Amino acid sequence: MIFFHSKTNTFYLQGKNVSYVFRKDEYGFLNHLYFGKKVACGEDLSFVYRPCDRGFSPNFDGAENRSFSLDTMPNEYPVAGLGDYRRPAVMVRTRDGARQTDFRYIDHSVETDAGAKGLPHVRGGETLFVRLRDDRYALTLELYYTVWDDSDAVVRRAALRNDGTDSVHVLNLCSFSIDLPDADYQSLRLFGRPCSERAPVWQDCAPGICELSSGQRGSSSHYLNPFLALKRKNTDETHGEVYGFQLVYSGSFSLSAEYTQYGGLRVRGGIDPLGFDWLLQSGEKFETPESVLVYSDGGLGGMSHCFHSLCRKHLMNPDFAFRKRPVLVNSWEAVYFDFDEKKLFHLIELAANAGMDMFVLDDGWFTCRNDDNGGLGDWEEDLSKLPCGLKGISDKCRSLNMLFGLWFEPEMVSENSKLFRVHPEWCLKNPERGFVRGRNQIVLDFCNPQVVDYVYGKMEDIIAKNGISYVKWDMNRYLADLYSPYLPPERQSEVQHRYVLGVYQLASRLNRRFPDLLMEGCSGGGGRFDAGMLNYFPQIWTSDNTDAFARAKIQYGTSLCYPPSAMTAHVSVCPNHQTGRTSGLDARYAVASSCIFGYELDLTKLSQSELAQIKEQITAYKRDADFVMNGDFYRLSEGDVYAFAQVSCDKSRAYVTGITGLKQANDKFRFLKIYGLDCEKKYRVRETGQTMSGRVLENIGLPLPQAEGDFCPVCYHLDGQPTSDEST
Ligand code: DGJ
Repeated sequence: MIFFHSKTNTFYLQGKNVSYVFRKDEYGFLNHLYFGKKVACGEDLSFVYRPCDRGFSPNFDGAENRSFSLDTMPNEYPVAGLGDYRRPAVMVRTRDGARQTDFRYIDHSVETDAGAKGLPHVRGGETLFVRLRDDRYALTLELYYTVWDDSDAVVRRAALRNDGTDSVHVLNLCSFSIDLPDADYQSLRLFGRPCSERAPVWQDCAPGICELSSGQRGSSSHYLNPFLALKRKNTDETHGEVYGFQLVYSGSFSLSAEYTQYGGLRVRGGIDPLGFDWLLQSGEKFETPESVLVYSDGGLGGMSHCFHSLCRKHLMNPDFAFRKRPVLVNSWEAVYFDFDEKKLFHLIELAANAGMDMFVLDDGWFTCRNDDNGGLGDWEEDLSKLPCGLKGISDKCRSLNMLFGLWFEPEMVSENSKLFRVHPEWCLKNPERGFVRGRNQIVLDFCNPQVVDYVYGKMEDIIAKNGISYVKWDMNRYLADLYSPYLPPERQSEVQHRYVLGVYQLASRLNRRFPDLLMEGCSGGGGRFDAGMLNYFPQIWTSDNTDAFARAKIQYGTSLCYPPSAMTAHVSVCPNHQTGRTSGLDARYAVASSCIFGYELDLTKLSQSELAQIKEQITAYKRDADFVMNGDFYRLSEGDVYAFAQVSCDKSRAYVTGITGLKQANDKFRFLKIYGLDCEKKYRVRETGQTMSGRVLENIGLPLPQAEGDFCPVCYHLDGQPTSDEST
């Protein structure tokens, strides 16, 4: 609900349990007043902002006295050059070379479905749209705030319109900025590298700026995820205050928390301003990606629930968000590049026999692709490997009642390809320099609409002709040569963002053309796992690391802000190809079955008893998949046991999965506290036959047996028992 109190000029954005409050002051500036636990609409909070004369904080032109300074105000969207020494949310270079803007409130309205064009965006809710203006340069700043009655998230974005006659340069335009009154927080970032994505790292906030960015990689990257949380020192998984900030963006980003001179914290984020310079001509508008701001006093778990539910209800494609996904076998770790039709047919038969729903042909199906050094861009099936073509594979799957999925790497080209020979100018490259190669491949210039059209045409044709039900969209390098031969010199600093817009454009065209096509995002594992991609891709490959123990940690970190129904996880072979570690098939299943599930191993090399075990696992997963798709997710942990509970919405049942760490001799007795249950209800633990109340399970925990070795599975079903009322 959105409410404007005209007496105090205050905006109240009311979510399910939260309020976001700011006001327009007598000068037309927007003062941030509050974001936190719900307060009544209309209660005057203007006392939060206390003007005071702080010597070195300058007073803007027209300030009534020395106590009015933008440097000490909690600003809703801070500007540069008027005396606020904290980092601004907007920086524009005008025709005279100045970088000083002065935006004052003009008007506001409330809208529905107000997402930015060409960018991923949330659906539904009510949107407050506030307009501010810099009269001197005829610039209009638009701030958007979306809230829902059923969510504790506020989604923000901004836009800048040039209503003047001269062009200006947008050097920075944040998706959001917020001035919190104190800085007594620990920051959390998700840090990683290929095969080791999204490990939580905590750090106390300290004077200065803590900045997260994906560098100039051109994607959200393995390095730091576009997510930042701030928690109080005593906040844990289930209790305490926490803020979460997430960008709905897949390109180079920046998120920062600035511990300011007078003890507040300015948090802001958006497109990385490093090297960014967007030429905004007369009449044009620049729109930022969206950002999600979450507050919870229910601990990290409360924050995660809010992100998960927003993503599933308002961001992911509604046709897929809650729909059960096919159990698949992927050819990558099964055969890599070493396959022929006969081998694939054998795999498909075994997969069908085990009860799998889909076969995915990963990398290597197209010409010049016997290793990862060539072949990208032409997207022509390799008939020497597959004499019956993709159609033959698709028909084979269909004959066994299976779906067929295919791998693409749409954004790349190899030098050894027809595409490159005909259109060398379709690549990102500085004409004055040589290529910067990654995995021996070149990045296509997605700033150029012709390139996007070409790739769309190729993919559309293959998908339509071969009855493809699923596409795995991979990206196996970052951007480096940030130069588009398509753009004029004065627009070269727009390349990174325009590239991402091209990616979004291609993805949304495919979504529209094939509404039933399931698309999975991937980037050398989970190198582009972000809320922007999730708008087009209902699932993302979480990591190339399929080792059960390592993967449990990656899923743990990822779940802080992304739902398990968006994470894909596969059972692979042991010794594991990434870590060399061995764990049982049951432990690998326990970890993978908490997400969107599949296999990635050579079924032709398994024993009959392993195949039989896999068949049982698939039956079990299909029975339990509803927990993943519709349940509420809780992180549980006890020492180095990584476990998750997925609780049905009515709390009548729960599925607990996970893995133990290294076996300790004479270990202590462990109890796994299960959150999210109905305390008043009794639950029968299917695997042990014990019956315990939700309260006991939450406060004392489920007794875990002594592990019988390293990396043992944790896998329990809790079935709520009818209460005496229900049974009569
Ligand atoms: C990286 C992906 O993460 C893998 O799953 C696989 O698709 C390879 N690329 C193929 O080159």
